[in-house]
Amino acid sequence: MQSLPGFRDFLPDKCAARNYIFARWRDVARRYGFQEWEGPLLEPTELYKKKSGAEIVEQLFNFTDKGRREVTLRPELTPTLARVVAAHQRGFKKPLKWFSIGQFFRYEKQQRGRLREHFQLNCDILGEKDLAADVELVALCIDVLRVFGLGRDDFVVRISDREFWTDFFRQKGVQPERWDALLQAIDKSAREPREKTAEKLGDLAEAVFATLKQGGKSEKLERVLDGLRDRGLGDFAAVDVGIVRGLAYYTGIVFEVFDRAGKFRAIAGGGRYDNLVGVISDGAVSLPAVGFAMGDVVLGELINDIPRAREQMEKAIASHRAIDLYIVIAKEERRADALRYVQQLRERGYRVDYPLAYEKVARQFQAAEDSGARFAILFGDEWPEVKIKSLESGRQELVPHDRLLAHLQGFSGLSS
Ligand code: HAM
Repeated sequence: MQSLPGFRDFLPDKCAARNYIFARWRDVARRYGFQEWEGPLLEPTELYKKKSGAEIVEQLFNFTDKGRREVTLRPELTPTLARVVAAHQRGFKKPLKWFSIGQFFRYEKQQRGRLREHFQLNCDILGEKDLAADVELVALCIDVLRVFGLGRDDFVVRISDREFWTDFFRQKGVQPERWDALLQAIDKSAREPREKTAEKLGDLAEAVFATLKQGGKSEKLERVLDGLRDRGLGDFAAVDVGIVRGLAYYTGIVFEVFDRAGKFRAIAGGGRYDNLVGVISDGAVSLPAVGFAMGDVVLGELINDIPRAREQMEKAIASHRAIDLYIVIAKEERRADALRYVQQLRERGYRVDYPLAYEKVARQFQAAEDSGARFAILFGDEWPEVKIKSLESGRQELVPHDRLLAHLQGFSGLSS
C-alpha cells in the first residue's frame, strides 16, 4: 500500500524537522503578543465559495458526507477565522492578535514546493485598520524567518497594494466588474507567457506592462517600508506591484515572501482583507483585518538549501532528541535494582533509556552513544555502588546507589 499522491509520511527525522519549525513559529508569534487558536479541519464547502477566489475553489478537497452535506478539507484558515470572529468577536477586546498552526489540503498537482497537504503558521490582526497593523505583520513574518538562521541575503518580502491597481483601473475608466479578472491576470503575469497575459488584459495590456516594468510607487507603500526601516528591517523588504495574490478577498496591502535566489515557490503570503468578515457574516459584523500564512514545505526546502540554517536545525534536532542517561545493566541480577532507578529518574524529569532485554555490555555502550546520552550508569559488580561514566570525557566515578539521585543533581545541563 502506498500513501496518496501529495501526502507525506513523517518518519522520526521528518517529524523532528517539523517540530523544530512549529516550535519556532509558536515562539516568535508569542513574542509579538499573539494568542493561539484553532478551527475545524472540515468546513461547509460554501464557506470557500463565498470569497476565496476561483483558483482555490478549483483545488478544493471536497466531498459529500453521510448526512449529504457538501464539505471541504480546509485549504486555508482565513475564511474559518472570519466565520469564528464574526460569531465570537463581542467577547474579545480589539484588536485581536491570533495565530494558529495547522494542516491544510489543496487538490493541486504535486510539484516541487506544492503538495496536497501542508502545514501553515497563520497570524492575523482583526479590528485595526491602521497601517501599523500591516507593518507589524510584515515585521513578524521577517522575524519568524530570521529565527531559522535566514538573513537578508536569503529571502525578501515583496510588498504591494491592491489599491494601487484599483486606483489605476479607476483612472483608466475600467468598470469594477472587470477588476477581479484583471488582478488575477496581473498576479499570474510573472508565471505565464506575455501573450497570454496580454490577451487577458486586453486594451490595458500596454499600460499594465509599462507600470510593472517601471515598478509602481505609492505613498502608502512608502509608509510601510518606513515602518520596517524604523525597526531596522528595511533590507528584508521591497516594493513590487507585480504581487497581487491569488485569493480574492484582499483589499489593500498584500505581500509575498520569496527566496532571494529565486529557486523556490512563495514561502509565505498575506495581506489586508477588510471586507471578508462582513461577507462571511452577511453584513452582520464588519471588522478590518490583516494577516499572513507561512507554509512548512517551501520553508523546509529553503532551510535545507542554506548551510547555516541547515546546521542550526540539525544541531537543535540532535540536542532535542538526545537522552540524558543510559542505564547499562552489566549483570542481569541487577535488572530489578536498575529498573527501580530508571523509574525514579524518569519521575524526576530525566530522559532515560536502558536495554529492554539482555544485551552484551559493549552493545549497551553503543546504544548509549547512539542515543546521545551524556552519562551511562552501570549496574553490575560494583553494587551497592553504581558507576557513572561521562560519555563525553570518558571520566568514571563510583557512587553508592542510594546517593545517585542527589549526586546527579549536581550535574548541569541535564533535563531534570
Ligand atoms: P497562500 O498564499 O494561499 O495564503 O498560502 C500561504 C503559504 O502556504 C504559501 O506561501 C505556501 O508557502 C504555502 N502553501 C500554499 N499551498 C501549498 C501547497 N499546496 N503545498 C505546500 N505549501 C503550500 C493563504 O492561505 C492565506 N489564507 C494567508 C492569509 C492569512 N491571508 C491572510 N491571513
